Amino acid sequence: MCGIVGYNGKDKNTLRILIDGLKALEYRGYDSAGIAYKNDEINIIKSVGKINELENKIDFNLNTNIGIGHTRWATHGSVNENNSHPHNVGDITIVHNGIIENFNEIKKELTSKGYHFNSTTDTEVACALIDYYYKENKDIKTSLVKFMKKIKGSYALGIMCKDSDTIYSVRKDSPLIIAKNESGNFIASDTIAVSKYADSVMYLDENVIAEITNDKITLFDKDLKEVESNFKSIDKSTNNTDKCGYDHYMLKEIHEQPKVFRDTVSPYLENGIDSLIDKMPDFTKYNRIDIVACGSAYHTGLVGKNLIEEFAQVPVNVEVASEYRYKNNFYDDKTLVIVVSQSGETADTLAALRKAKNDNIDTLAIVNVEGSTMAREADILLKIKAGREIAVATTKAYSAQVAMLSLIALNLASAKGNIDKEEMKVILKDIKELPVKIENTILNSDYKNIAEAIYKNDNIFFIGRGIDYALSMEGSLKLKEISYINSQAYAAGELKHGTISLIEEGTPVIGILTEENLILKTISNIEEVKSRGAITTVITNSDINNNFDYNIKIPKVHKLLQSLLTIIPLQLISYEVAKLRNCNIDQPKNLAKSVTVE
Ligand code: F6R
Repeated sequence: MCGIVGYNGKDKNTLRILIDGLKALEYRGYDSAGIAYKNDEINIIKSVGKINELENKIDFNLNTNIGIGHTRWATHGSVNENNSHPHNVGDITIVHNGIIENFNEIKKELTSKGYHFNSTTDTEVACALIDYYYKENKDIKTSLVKFMKKIKGSYALGIMCKDSDTIYSVRKDSPLIIAKNESGNFIASDTIAVSKYADSVMYLDENVIAEITNDKITLFDKDLKEVESNFKSIDKSTNNTDKCGYDHYMLKEIHEQPKVFRDTVSPYLENGIDSLIDKMPDFTKYNRIDIVACGSAYHTGLVGKNLIEEFAQVPVNVEVASEYRYKNNFYDDKTLVIVVSQSGETADTLAALRKAKNDNIDTLAIVNVEGSTMAREADILLKIKAGREIAVATTKAYSAQVAMLSLIALNLASAKGNIDKEEMKVILKDIKELPVKIENTILNSDYKNIAEAIYKNDNIFFIGRGIDYALSMEGSLKLKEISYINSQAYAAGELKHGTISLIEEGTPVIGILTEENLILKTISNIEEVKSRGAITTVITNSDINNNFDYNIKIPKVHKLLQSLLTIIPLQLISYEVAKLRNCNIDQPKNLAKSVTVE
């Protein structure tokens, strides 16, 4: 989703700093970009499409010390230069991430006061509102206090004013960092945008105004009293954006999964199961768990439900955050709400977390990004160690989330005495050996052949039962998002209640078969589609003798860990299909990495 970068300092190379920052933010997804910089006056350059288009319009010999830049992911109004940021109205120029919900009402008010609008965006209205208050008060901070009172919705803003050489920033429900080095100060949506230049960083709190000159950063609360800043040094090792020889970040991230698994689980298992019990909260006090998330993170919740219900015997309710935040949730003081999020910034998941906290329900966040809003606001944080994930379609963060949910299931099952010593030995052995098994599963060369057989189809189905149904949903989403093929996931037994009418000669159906007691049932369902002409692929940890077109055999491990192997063929089949279709694998159309609007 939209990305912001800004610089104010002694380095005259501001235009390069802005472009480098925007390039580092490309992974978030965008459709146009722009910058504003100041020498005698504020100049704006915009362009539709990739950052290179913008770069080609910039004269990098121009010296300037102050500027803001933006990548736009269209929300209000189509993709064109008029709608892209920065926006300028009167004395004010801004870049914005988020959605101003009451922009129509404000637009009417401002139109009646003589303002004209050139774009269809909510951002231009926000810009005009700040300009209106500025003309009224002649003081930018007072204007921003009024702005924050008036606005409904979410925003992170970088603001420049015609009359000053200062950048201002405020935010609500959209992330923004402030960073610095010896020669200047930065703002950005994400540390990665400035980590090439800056040494230390802080997360801007909501309801705080940041005043950023070329040598000073001052923070003010809503009463314009100064508040303290809290900078931490930037860990440059986590900001590596090298593809390391892989064609795509997605492929690199798939290959990182053995390490990610090891890094995520090993801190909890230094002394076997005892340290797992020690290092995790006491889950036994809860008699219900709600897992709330979006997209792939929601799918990890479905895997977690399966494992926690089977091994720990605690009911788990998994809900999509955009629904959960607005519905009646019948939770009580014995409910734990777990939010799962790679970014820790997804607007709906954050809102669900805040809702539960507001209702005094215990909350736990499984998050990848250190210092993100969810990581800071949840009562308990279990951090996954996926490292930076750049491909928009998640792979390694998905696995790390599943690994953490498996650990929760193991912790709770063992605390409740549901796992005997022998079974525990098997699990711990499997955990130790899993990274190598993941690696071997990645190296299977059959994925390319399957992709060749199915990539020209318009419809592809994934089926499974139990945990395999949860994995089918992720497999189907992965394929849709990066290859643009219409794909559906079905509980295998459900297909014949309607959807089987879509199966015809050559329709690919991928069946997942790891649920030991359900394998024969799913095999029957795959036979049903085969006899109607489907191209059948099975992904299984068992010996299947049926005559299906493709059979991917993965190693069999304890069920608590099996999903971490089953997901690999699903990720790689999608990857190979998308590659054959020449899709933009790392940045699929219309998608954003961090979805900070509702
Ligand atoms: C799909 C994908 C998305 C995210 C979803 C939640 O590959 O990446 O479905 O899982 O947008 O994002 P986070 O985990 O950042 O809350």
